[in-house]
Amino acid sequence: MPAMTLYHNPASPFARKVMVLLHETGQLERVALKTVALSPVSPDASVNQDNPAGKIPALVLEDGTTLHDSRVILEYLDHQHVGNPLIPREGAPRWRRLTVASLADAMLDAAVLIRYEKALRPPELHWPLWLDNQAEKIERGLAYLEATAVAELSAAFDIAAIGVACALGYVDFRMPESGWRQRYPELAGWYAEVSERESLRSTVPSA
Ligand code: BEZ
Repeated sequence: MPAMTLYHNPASPFARKVMVLLHETGQLERVALKTVALSPVSPDASVNQDNPAGKIPALVLEDGTTLHDSRVILEYLDHQHVGNPLIPREGAPRWRRLTVASLADAMLDAAVLIRYEKALRPPELHWPLWLDNQAEKIERGLAYLEATAVAELSAAFDIAAIGVACALGYVDFRMPESGWRQRYPELAGWYAEVSERESLRSTVPSA
Protein backbone atom coordinates (compact mmCIF):
# COMPACT_ATOMS: atom_id res chain seq x y z
CA MET A 1 0.00 0.00 0.00
CA PRO A 2 1.40 3.44 -0.92
CA ALA A 3 2.92 5.33 1.98
CA MET A 4 1.80 8.80 0.86
CA THR A 5 -1.35 10.39 -0.57
CA LEU A 6 -1.34 13.18 -3.12
CA TYR A 7 -4.32 15.49 -3.51
CA HIS A 8 -4.51 15.74 -7.26
CA ASN A 9 -6.56 16.76 -10.26
CA PRO A 10 -5.63 15.81 -13.84
CA ALA A 11 -6.16 19.43 -14.99
CA SER A 12 -3.85 20.95 -12.37
CA PRO A 13 -0.45 21.86 -13.82
CA PHE A 14 1.01 22.15 -10.32
CA ALA A 15 -0.10 18.61 -9.48
CA ARG A 16 1.29 17.54 -12.85
CA LYS A 17 4.77 18.76 -11.91
CA VAL A 18 4.68 16.42 -8.90
CA MET A 19 3.47 13.51 -11.04
CA VAL A 20 6.25 14.10 -13.57
CA LEU A 21 8.89 14.10 -10.85
CA LEU A 22 7.43 10.90 -9.37
CA HIS A 23 7.69 9.28 -12.84
CA GLU A 24 11.19 10.54 -13.48
CA THR A 25 12.50 9.37 -10.11
CA GLY A 26 10.74 5.99 -10.03
CA GLN A 27 8.54 6.80 -7.05
CA LEU A 28 5.04 6.51 -8.55
CA GLU A 29 4.18 3.48 -6.45
CA ARG A 30 4.90 5.29 -3.21
CA VAL A 31 1.97 7.68 -3.72
CA ALA A 32 -1.80 7.09 -3.85
CA LEU A 33 -3.78 9.73 -5.72
CA LYS A 34 -6.78 11.36 -4.14
CA THR A 35 -8.53 13.15 -6.99
CA VAL A 36 -10.42 16.26 -5.96
CA ALA A 37 -12.30 18.88 -7.95
CA LEU A 38 -11.96 22.36 -6.54
CA SER A 39 -11.67 25.98 -7.55
CA PRO A 40 -11.38 29.29 -5.68
CA VAL A 41 -15.19 29.40 -5.49
CA SER A 42 -15.85 25.70 -4.82
CA PRO A 43 -13.44 24.50 -2.15
CA ASP A 44 -12.93 20.90 -1.10
CA ALA A 45 -13.40 20.26 2.62
CA SER A 46 -10.81 17.48 2.85
CA VAL A 47 -8.17 19.62 1.12
CA ASN A 48 -9.00 22.54 3.42
CA GLN A 49 -8.50 20.29 6.41
CA ASP A 50 -5.04 19.15 5.31
CA ASN A 51 -3.93 22.40 3.64
CA PRO A 52 -5.40 25.59 5.10
CA ALA A 53 -4.57 27.34 1.82
CA GLY A 54 -7.18 25.08 0.19
CA LYS A 55 -4.92 24.29 -2.76
CA ILE A 56 -3.59 21.26 -4.60
CA PRO A 57 -1.20 19.59 -4.80
CA ALA A 58 -0.83 18.68 -1.15
CA LEU A 59 1.08 15.55 -0.08
CA VAL A 60 0.07 13.67 3.04
CA LEU A 61 3.07 11.77 4.41
CA GLU A 62 3.06 8.41 6.16
CA ASP A 63 3.06 10.09 9.58
CA GLY A 64 -0.03 12.13 8.68
CA THR A 65 1.72 15.46 8.20
CA THR A 66 0.99 17.37 4.99
CA LEU A 67 3.39 19.13 2.66
CA HIS A 68 2.43 21.97 0.32
CA ASP A 69 2.85 23.69 -2.10
CA SER A 70 4.26 22.04 -5.24
CA ARG A 71 7.74 23.51 -4.72
CA VAL A 72 8.00 22.06 -1.21
CA ILE A 73 6.63 18.70 -2.37
CA LEU A 74 9.09 18.54 -5.26
CA GLU A 75 12.03 19.32 -2.99
CA TYR A 76 10.89 16.69 -0.50
CA LEU A 77 10.40 13.98 -3.11
CA ASP A 78 13.72 14.80 -4.72
CA HIS A 79 15.35 13.88 -1.41
CA GLN A 80 13.55 10.51 -1.35
CA HIS A 81 15.29 8.71 -4.23
CA VAL A 82 18.82 7.52 -4.94
CA GLY A 83 19.19 8.73 -8.54
CA ASN A 84 20.64 12.03 -9.72
CA PRO A 85 18.86 14.91 -7.98
CA LEU A 86 16.46 16.81 -10.22
CA ILE A 87 16.99 19.89 -8.05
CA PRO A 88 20.70 20.67 -7.86
CA ARG A 89 21.70 20.59 -4.21
CA GLU A 90 24.01 23.59 -4.14
CA GLY A 91 25.88 26.34 -5.92
CA ALA A 92 25.02 28.41 -8.96
CA PRO A 93 23.20 25.57 -10.77
CA ARG A 94 20.75 25.28 -7.87
CA TRP A 95 19.79 28.96 -7.90
CA ARG A 96 19.65 29.15 -11.67
CA ARG A 97 17.46 26.08 -12.11
CA LEU A 98 15.16 27.14 -9.28
CA THR A 99 14.87 30.58 -10.85
CA VAL A 100 13.84 29.15 -14.22
CA ALA A 101 11.39 26.87 -12.39
CA SER A 102 10.02 29.91 -10.57
CA LEU A 103 9.49 31.72 -13.87
CA ALA A 104 7.55 28.69 -15.14
CA ASP A 105 5.42 28.81 -11.97
CA ALA A 106 4.76 32.52 -12.49
CA MET A 107 3.62 31.80 -16.05
CA LEU A 108 1.38 29.07 -14.67
CA ASP A 109 -0.05 31.36 -12.01
CA ALA A 110 -0.96 33.86 -14.72
CA ALA A 111 -2.47 31.18 -16.98
CA VAL A 112 -4.53 29.69 -14.14
CA LEU A 113 -5.77 33.16 -13.12
CA ILE A 114 -6.86 33.81 -16.71
CA ARG A 115 -8.59 30.43 -16.75
CA TYR A 116 -10.45 31.19 -13.52
CA GLU A 117 -11.42 34.67 -14.68
CA LYS A 118 -12.84 33.35 -17.95
CA ALA A 119 -14.40 30.14 -16.66
CA LEU A 120 -15.71 31.24 -13.26
CA ARG A 121 -16.22 34.99 -13.20
CA PRO A 122 -19.42 36.40 -14.72
CA PRO A 123 -18.60 37.95 -18.13
CA GLU A 124 -19.88 41.38 -17.10
CA LEU A 125 -17.26 41.43 -14.35
CA HIS A 126 -14.30 40.56 -16.60
CA TRP A 127 -11.48 43.12 -16.44
CA PRO A 128 -9.71 43.22 -19.84
CA LEU A 129 -6.74 45.26 -18.57
CA TRP A 130 -6.08 42.70 -15.84
CA LEU A 131 -6.46 39.79 -18.28
CA ASP A 132 -4.11 41.50 -20.76
CA ASN A 133 -1.46 41.98 -18.08
CA GLN A 134 -1.63 38.31 -17.08
CA ALA A 135 -1.31 37.29 -20.73
CA GLU A 136 1.68 39.63 -21.14
CA LYS A 137 3.37 37.95 -18.19
CA ILE A 138 3.11 34.61 -20.00
CA GLU A 139 4.38 36.17 -23.22
CA ARG A 140 7.38 37.75 -21.49
CA GLY A 141 8.20 34.39 -19.94
CA LEU A 142 8.02 32.62 -23.28
CA ALA A 143 10.23 35.28 -24.91
CA TYR A 144 12.78 35.00 -22.09
CA LEU A 145 12.89 31.21 -22.31
CA GLU A 146 13.31 31.33 -26.10
CA ALA A 147 16.11 33.88 -25.89
CA THR A 148 18.10 32.57 -22.93
CA ALA A 149 17.10 29.14 -21.66
CA VAL A 150 16.61 26.58 -24.43
CA ALA A 151 20.20 25.28 -24.33
CA GLU A 152 20.16 24.82 -20.58
CA LEU A 153 16.70 23.23 -20.67
CA SER A 154 18.10 20.75 -23.18
CA ALA A 155 21.01 19.89 -20.89
CA ALA A 156 18.95 18.07 -18.25
CA PHE A 157 15.32 17.14 -17.63
CA ASP A 158 15.32 18.56 -14.14
CA ILE A 159 13.23 20.89 -11.99
CA ALA A 160 13.47 23.75 -14.50
CA ALA A 161 12.58 21.57 -17.47
CA ILE A 162 9.68 19.94 -15.61
CA GLY A 163 8.29 23.36 -14.71
CA VAL A 164 8.59 24.77 -18.22
CA ALA A 165 7.15 21.62 -19.83
CA CYS A 166 4.14 21.71 -17.48
CA ALA A 167 3.66 25.44 -18.15
CA LEU A 168 3.69 24.90 -21.93
CA GLY A 169 1.36 21.91 -21.54
CA TYR A 170 -1.10 24.03 -19.59
CA VAL A 171 -0.99 26.84 -22.17
CA ASP A 172 -1.80 24.23 -24.84
CA PHE A 173 -4.60 22.81 -22.67
CA ARG A 174 -6.37 26.02 -21.65
CA MET A 175 -5.19 28.51 -24.31
CA PRO A 176 -5.07 26.44 -27.50
CA GLU A 177 -5.43 29.63 -29.52
CA SER A 178 -2.10 30.99 -28.20
CA GLY A 179 -0.02 30.08 -31.27
CA TRP A 180 3.17 30.31 -29.15
CA ARG A 181 5.04 27.77 -31.30
CA GLN A 182 5.16 30.17 -34.25
CA ARG A 183 6.66 32.93 -32.13
CA TYR A 184 9.10 30.75 -30.18
CA PRO A 185 10.37 28.01 -32.51
CA GLU A 186 13.42 26.98 -30.44
CA LEU A 187 11.29 26.46 -27.37
CA ALA A 188 8.74 24.61 -29.50
CA GLY A 189 11.50 22.27 -30.77
CA TRP A 190 12.66 21.52 -27.24
CA TYR A 191 9.10 20.93 -26.09
CA ALA A 192 8.33 18.57 -28.98
CA GLU A 193 11.35 16.49 -27.99
CA VAL A 194 10.66 16.29 -24.25
CA SER A 195 6.95 15.65 -24.85
CA GLU A 196 7.98 12.13 -25.92
CA ARG A 197 9.05 11.30 -22.38
CA GLU A 198 6.75 8.84 -20.66
CA SER A 199 6.47 11.17 -17.65
CA LEU A 200 4.87 13.84 -19.85
CA ARG A 201 2.94 11.52 -22.17
CA SER A 202 1.20 9.85 -19.25
CA THR A 203 0.28 13.12 -17.51
CA VAL A 204 -1.19 15.18 -20.36
CA PRO A 205 -3.77 17.46 -18.70
CA SER A 206 -7.42 16.50 -18.96
CA ALA A 207 -10.63 18.01 -17.63
C1 BEZ B 1 -7.92 23.87 -14.47
O1 BEZ B 1 -8.96 23.23 -14.61
O2 BEZ B 1 -7.46 24.57 -15.37
C2 BEZ B 1 -7.22 23.79 -13.14
C3 BEZ B 1 -7.58 22.79 -12.24
C4 BEZ B 1 -6.93 22.72 -11.02
C5 BEZ B 1 -5.92 23.62 -10.70
C6 BEZ B 1 -5.56 24.61 -11.62
C7 BEZ B 1 -6.21 24.68 -12.84
